[in-house]
Amino acid sequence: SRHLQITPSILNADFAALGAEVARIGSADWVHVDVMDNHFVPNLTFGPTMVEALARSTRIPLDAHLMIEAPDRHAPAYVEAGCGSVTFHVEAAKAPVRLAREIRAKGARASMALKPATPIEPYEDMLGELDMVLLMTVEPGFGGQKFLDLVLPKIRRARALMDKHGVETWLQVDGGVSLETIERCAEAGADVFVAGSAVYSADDPDAMVAALRAKAAS
Ligand code: DX5
Ligand code: ZN
Repeated sequence: SRHLQITPSILNADFAALGAEVARIGSADWVHVDVMDNHFVPNLTFGPTMVEALARSTRIPLDAHLMIEAPDRHAPAYVEAGCGSVTFHVEAAKAPVRLAREIRAKGARASMALKPATPIEPYEDMLGELDMVLLMTVEPGFGGQKFLDLVLPKIRRARALMDKHGVETWLQVDGGVSLETIERCAEAGADVFVAGSAVYSADDPDAMVAALRAKAAS
């Protein structure tokens, strides 16, 4: 069976105490950092300097999700900032194959994100260039939105394409993932689960990480 991973998003954590917030999710596999530039999405978060400080503050590897324009130009800075995985949006990338190769060459896992209405099929032949595909299950921009069931068939198709090509590519879902929705995602074939508000609105975030892991495996 598949290795299931939980990657809490700090988007809804206390930005004035990020080090302490990350310390509350000690059993997480990754920390998901949502980088937003007010252009690709209508929200603004933080950049490479902040991410570098966070990487130094924890032993948990960082999973950067870049919701930014011009990722071809800016993504390498997040590898240099110490992220173990860097995800760019295909809708914004000019040369996704070249960018994925550059991220890998610099030493991070390369990942490509698709918004809910972006099809996976045009990218079938580049799956081998990617360590992970992120399928957004909300429109990117904000935490706390409702999970979009309409993405489930795409999760299934993505998993089938990965099986067909025999690639080791991980399949991540992001947006509205909770105890209510994580089983559907896992059943459809996802193996890496981002959860923001579900984790940081819980009294015990680390217990929620464990609960989500158990639900995904059930
Ligand atoms: C949304 C971000 C997500 C978000 C997830 O644009 O990419 O990572 O923080 O938050 P929840 O789990 O609350 O939808
Ligand atoms: Zn995200």
